[in-house]
Amino acid sequence: MAVAHVAVPAARPARVATVRPHPTRVRVPSRRQDEVPIVDALRRYRAASTVSFATPGHKSGAATDPLLRSLLGADILASDVWLNTVDRDTMVAQAEELAAAAWGADRSFFLVNGSSAGNHAFLLAALRPGDEVVVGRDLHQSMLAALVQTGARPIYVAPRLHPTLDVGLGIDPTDVAAALHAHPAAKLVALVSPTYWGVASDLAAIATVAHSRGVPLYVDEAWGPHLPFHRDLPPFIATSHRRRWPAARTAP
Ligand SMILES: Cc1ncc(COP(=O)(O)O)c(C=O)c1O
Repeated sequence: MAVAHVAVPAARPARVATVRPHPTRVRVPSRRQDEVPIVDALRRYRAASTVSFATPGHKSGAATDPLLRSLLGADILASDVWLNTVDRDTMVAQAEELAAAAWGADRSFFLVNGSSAGNHAFLLAALRPGDEVVVGRDLHQSMLAALVQTGARPIYVAPRLHPTLDVGLGIDPTDVAAALHAHPAAKLVALVSPTYWGVASDLAAIATVAHSRGVPLYVDEAWGPHLPFHRDLPPFIATSHRRRWPAARTAP
């Protein structure tokens, strides 16, 4: 299951500070993070020996091919169940609240269909056909699909390349500034960071560049859910700029 974290715009825009790795930035899980609402709901379901008349059709594994059961394990199938709506809504709301607290976001949303769905949903919500959007050329294909769905016009910013290794070094803030200068009507900056190569862009500087022009920054942080939990790692955008308006999403 993937998670989308959203920083809700502050009523009055706060000053954007440059965030550097620092011990106080590290998120220390509270005792509430010991709570496991989804596991609890599944345990209750199993303890009640519920007879299912709903999907999935394997009926907690009872009607599963033995080969599949041996591959996945009986417990996985026994926990692949349809909870009643009240149980489901309660446990999802509690778990999303815990996720928001853990990552320091204003809101978190669990996504079905993986992180791709987060990219599709956000870009579809933020952009209209014909809108210009500044996009890192090293984006994930799910972002490309989202651009096709929105009908928005990408203004690509290429990552700088390592001189000998030919590896992308992330998106440079000055390149984002140049793109926004050349396209002042751009509605959004959308990037992926860290990249497949583990390179994180200077998101604090890029956020400052975008926000100074009133443009929101969206970061696909599928490779960075661990960032806020160690002081030597680069900043996590939903946490470091949560008082402004970027949204970030991640995949555990
Ligand atoms: C940067 C990035 N964004 C989005 C995705 C899509 O994730 P999912 O397969 O969960 O939809 C991936 C998957 O590898 C990814 O690497």
